[in-house]
Formats: sequence, structure tokens, C-alpha cells
Amino acid sequence: MTSLNNQIDLEELASLAKRRGFVFQSSEIYGGLASTWDYGPLGVELKRKVKELWWNQFVIKQEHVFGLDSSIIMHPKVWDVSGHTSNFSDPLVECKQCNHRYRSDQLNTTVCPNCSGELSEPRLFNLMFKTFLGPVEDNTNTAYLRPETAQGIFVNFLNVKHTINRNPPFGIAQIGKSFRNEITTGNFIFRTREFEMMEMEFFVPPEEDEKWLNYWVTDAFNWYLKLGLSKNKLRIREHDKNELAHYAKATHDIEYLFPWGWGEIAGIANRTNYDLVAHSDQSGKELSYFDEATKQHVIPYVIEPSFGLDRVIMALLIEAYTQEDLVNSKGKQETRTSLKLSPLVAPVQVAILPLSKKEVLSKLAREIYTNLKSSEIVKPLVYYDETQSIGRRYRRQDEIGTPLCITVDFESLEDQSVTIRQRDSMIQTRVSVNILEEEIVSLLSNKAQS
Ligand code: GAP
Repeated sequence: MTSLNNQIDLEELASLAKRRGFVFQSSEIYGGLASTWDYGPLGVELKRKVKELWWNQFVIKQEHVFGLDSSIIMHPKVWDVSGHTSNFSDPLVECKQCNHRYRSDQLNTTVCPNCSGELSEPRLFNLMFKTFLGPVEDNTNTAYLRPETAQGIFVNFLNVKHTINRNPPFGIAQIGKSFRNEITTGNFIFRTREFEMMEMEFFVPPEEDEKWLNYWVTDAFNWYLKLGLSKNKLRIREHDKNELAHYAKATHDIEYLFPWGWGEIAGIANRTNYDLVAHSDQSGKELSYFDEATKQHVIPYVIEPSFGLDRVIMALLIEAYTQEDLVNSKGKQETRTSLKLSPLVAPVQVAILPLSKKEVLSKLAREIYTNLKSSEIVKPLVYYDETQSIGRRYRRQDEIGTPLCITVDFESLEDQSVTIRQRDSMIQTRVSVNILEEEIVSLLSNKAQS
């Protein structure tokens, strides 16, 4: 059995993602809309699990982190004060011949990569999506779709601080959509104009900023390992001074080795007190805490771990996508495609497959399915499938990353046992129905840890 995994064709991955219901092109029946994507039944589950794991790690397990769900459209002053209306832009160049547009900082040529035509001088292009509140489209009604969820946290700093009644260090976390009118998009769901972020602003006494920056960089890195990304495909890269965002003193990106090279999947920034100072000045509200030791009001520094959800999904799909050459039960050479997702994120964890549609088998298989669905011990997503040959059904489950398939056959009627087939090793073991739940829990948790 040889693995062909080191060279992944993104088109093949996108095609599997579509065929199996992970990701669809948006508005496809109208020809699609460039770089906008919809998540199908399995994509939704995958996303939901990643969000749940993130929330669990960065909110529930922490002593000092609290949740928020702020609005996408905020007072336009927020974006003036945060610096986004003046600084949140990329340098745009346009080909004078074919009118293709590029980010000049991402080009390593002085002519158009499409037609070798002459490029215009770079001009700054603001990435925020503009809209209008109410029916009148004039400057007094301008609003923006948020390009980051962070500002919703900064403007709620006092509200949350009063509610939780404590001083920094503490964090406020939220998960939600953000919008950026990117000049160049692409690589499937890697760079899109609408995407989901998982962000936390961790407010700290200014002198503790470096300690907490290191703490969250390590925590974020370990979280990716837990999801099943390989250590040798992850790295931490510190920003050079000239690439820091307008608000940052230091930033460490966590990057994943995508088929086209290293790409950012999260950034952990030391935003200092930039945002709170600016919002304090312009709103007239004191966004600070009272330090009992020094008897002074202090504006805290902020350490911000910021994760792109769609990029996590992209990395997970790439990491999991596996093609292997093997000899099937009829002695024929075939290529098996599977998603080797950790059970922690696999959209379906157990599939119940009666060997045939015969009623006697369906009856027992459905009984097992119903028991597992309502089980308090096993809480996996269980799927029932009796269509097509067993070989095809295994292939389907392999392609969606289901770690365990349970086959109910005619022998099961006699010995009350079923076959458990493990996705990665394809090992099959016979297990009594009496201990099936415990066996599933044990196999899934072993896999989650491996
Ligand atoms: N509040 C901090 C912030 O916005 P960022 O580095 O611009 O920082 C954070 O974005 C994360 O959001 C990135 O690490 C990336 O994972 C994700 N992200 C940014 N732009 C994206 C885009 N156009 N499409 C998909 N994900 C994106």
C-alpha cells in the first residue's frame, strides 16, 4: 500500500468537498460568485465541531475568559477610531493592458503575470465593505461590515468588565463572520471575502504583555496539534517590523504548510493599548481599570489570538486527504481515497451498515442505530446507510472521514455480534452488541489521542 498523499490536487479536494457535501460554490445555479462558498451538511458539522473545540479550549477551560456576540454592523466611528478607515488597505496595481488587478506586495514581477502588460502605480485600496443604513445613500448614513470581530470586543470592554466584576488579566472571546473586500482571493476557502473568525482579546496589565503573548502563542499552537494537524506542517513565524499591522507591537503567525507553501492560519498579536486608548479618547469613556497597588487608573494591554475558521477547515481537509494504492477483495488494484480526520472533528463518527437491505438485517441494524443515537455513553454522530454494495458504502464513509463502520450481517442474527471496521487500518474486528458502546468509545478516544 503506497501513499500518494504528498501532492494534493486542490481541484480534486474541492471536487470531493462538493460531492460529499462539505463545501459548495455559492450561488452555483447562477454560475457561482467568485471566492464565496457555502458549507453543506458535512461542512456544517465539521465547522461546528471546530468552533466547539475552540470555545471549549479558549473559553470554557479558562478561568478568566468570557464570551460575547457583538453585532456585525457597528457605529461608523468605531472604524475611524480603530484606524481601519485610514489604514486597513492593501496596495493595488492594475494591468494597463488586460485590467487584471493584483496586490503589489504579493507580486514578484514588475509586469502583469497574466499578459506581461505594464502595471499601474500602486494605490491604497481600503478592504472594508461599505454600505448604508436606511434608505438614503449618503455619507451621513455610511456603515461598514466588520473586517474583524475584535472591535465589537473593545467597545464592550466596560460592559463586560462591570458584569464580571474583575480586573485584568481577563479575556473576551467571540466567534463570528467578518468581511474583507480582498483584491486577490483564491486557493479554495483560504482567502475569501466573507469568512468566520474565532477571536479573543486578552486584557493584561501592561507589564505582563510579553508573558501573555508567549502563553497564548503556545496554547494556540497546541490546539492545532490537538485537532490533528502535524507538527512538521506547522510553524510559528514572527512578523518583521515592517509587516506589523498599524495597531501591533509584535505578532506571531501560526502557519500551515499548504500545497502552495506556508500560509497563515492564526495570528497572535500584542495590540498594546492602541485600541482602548483610541476609543477612550474619542468616546470620552474611561476604558481602564483601577490598580489597587499603584492607586492608578490603567488602560490594559491586549494580547489577541485570532483564528480564521475557514483556514482551519482548509488545513484539516488537506491534512486528512489521503490516497492509497491497494489491492481490493477481488484481487484488483485500486486507489482508495479517504479523509483521515480525527474523531474529534469527523462529521460522522460511526456508520451503521447492514450487509443487505433484507428486513431481518435492517431490523437489527436499525435497533443498534437507534440505541447509539440515544446513548448517553457514546455521543457520536451516527449515520445509517443500506444503499448500494458494502464496498461502495465503505468507500463513501472513507471519503467523508467516518472513523468507524459497523456492519451487521447474517451471522449477527445468530451470535448478536457485529463487525467494526476502522477507517485508517481497515482492520475488522468482531464485537458483541452488548459491549458495542464501550468498544466505540474506546476506539474513538484512542484515535483522538493518536
Ligand atoms: N483581529 C486581528 C485580525 O484581524 P488578521 O491576521 O488580519 O488579524 C486573523 O486575521 C485571521 O483571520 C488570519 O490568521 C486568517 O486565519 C483569517 N483571515 C484573514 N483574512 C482572511 C480571508 N480573506 N479569508 C479567510 N480567512 C482570513
